[in-house]
Amino acid sequence: MTDGIESLQKEYLFPCVATYYQKPLTLVRGKGMHLTDSEGREYLDFFAGILTVSVGHCNDTVNKAVIDQNQTLQHASTLYINEPQVRLAKKLAEVTPGDLSKSFFTSSGTEANETAVLFARLATGHSDIIALRHAYSGRSEVALNITAHAPWRPMPSSIPYVKHAHNPYCYRCAFGLTYPGCDLRCARDIEELIQTTTNGRIAAFMAEPIQGVGGFVTAPKEYFQVVLPIVRKYGGLFICDEVQTGCGRTGGTFCGIEHWGVKPDIMTFAKGLANGLPMGATIATPAVADSYKGLSISTFGGNPVSTRGALATIEFIENNHLADNATVQGGRLRDGLEALKAKYPSIGDVRGMGLMQGIEVIDPASADGKAPDPKKVLKVFEETRRLGLLIGKGGLYGNVIRISPPMIVSSREIDDALAVLDKAFAAVG
Ligand SMILES: Cc1ncc(COP(=O)(O)O)c(C=O)c1O
Repeated sequence: MTDGIESLQKEYLFPCVATYYQKPLTLVRGKGMHLTDSEGREYLDFFAGILTVSVGHCNDTVNKAVIDQNQTLQHASTLYINEPQVRLAKKLAEVTPGDLSKSFFTSSGTEANETAVLFARLATGHSDIIALRHAYSGRSEVALNITAHAPWRPMPSSIPYVKHAHNPYCYRCAFGLTYPGCDLRCARDIEELIQTTTNGRIAAFMAEPIQGVGGFVTAPKEYFQVVLPIVRKYGGLFICDEVQTGCGRTGGTFCGIEHWGVKPDIMTFAKGLANGLPMGATIATPAVADSYKGLSISTFGGNPVSTRGALATIEFIENNHLADNATVQGGRLRDGLEALKAKYPSIGDVRGMGLMQGIEVIDPASADGKAPDPKKVLKVFEETRRLGLLIGKGGLYGNVIRISPPMIVSSREIDDALAVLDKAFAAVG
């Protein structure tokens, strides 16, 4: 059935639709923790469609809700009230922290972030956005300008109101300091960034609690508590991008930012919210949402099928305590990865939270002993694929392995994945 599909992909898709692996993998089926390729080989999925398949592939509960909705009402637009959209908005208000209570739905993380930036600017009347280096925000003009990775930016910067602060990347501190003796220099530096690159009035500070594409760069626990008073002092809101960290993935809480004990004014979701259905959500405080009374529409935003799928996904996460499972299994995964780090000098850093764990691959023989080694990552990729495990990668230098299985993962599957990673690192040296 899939004969020749690889050459058809080359012929008919934009080449920027890049695929993993020397010989691209064609997937034809998924169930739970597993995916099957066109040759009938089965893989344990530890990347979950880029942190998207929260509750397992082709989850029966989500499927049932989606099929039922497909047979009832598929689309009528937001010009009419549809019940799943309203119920999802209510649910998001319940599971997000602080005063976040009004939602605007779209079809992707890009649009969710675009909406967040637009509303921060409308609500404050200010323009400048402080983003973080190594951020990934999506692929619209605004999101590409916020994205701070040259390889993901096809065009030069075009939006002068976006300024990038140093990210809290402790393993490669831009200031050459070491946490906690650094006194959070990267966070405090944001004040000078505002004073020197803006007119002293900003619309927002925008950040992912853990930078996803950036290679699971995880902010120290005090980071946001230091940054937010600075942001507020200059009139800015906090936009928290939960596209990767949301829905329980970081363990224990629904939103990643709750681990830092701060309250965003605007939050964005996509990816894992609807287990793979196209879905973007921007939730804001009433003060932000109500600041604009004019018109805005997203044809597919709030689509009854996607919103019903998102509701079913959140309920499945809650009913099966998957945020707690992320804590337990994430802890097991982390312990195993730390053990691999102790064993293999090419693993320089292990970081993340819950079921969002990254390993930074380095060349220990390099001048500073920690030069990024993206080539080794590619070798580990080929080996793990051969052994039946799918993983992800990221980081500005392409040298971070991202491990984030569906949140239904069991201890046995964690151990199996760790055993494969062990073999892969042993094989590549
Ligand atoms: C943190 C973050 N925000 C936004 C996006 C953009 O989401 P989408 O690809 O659904 O537009 C991504 C995608 O990877 C992301 O990781």
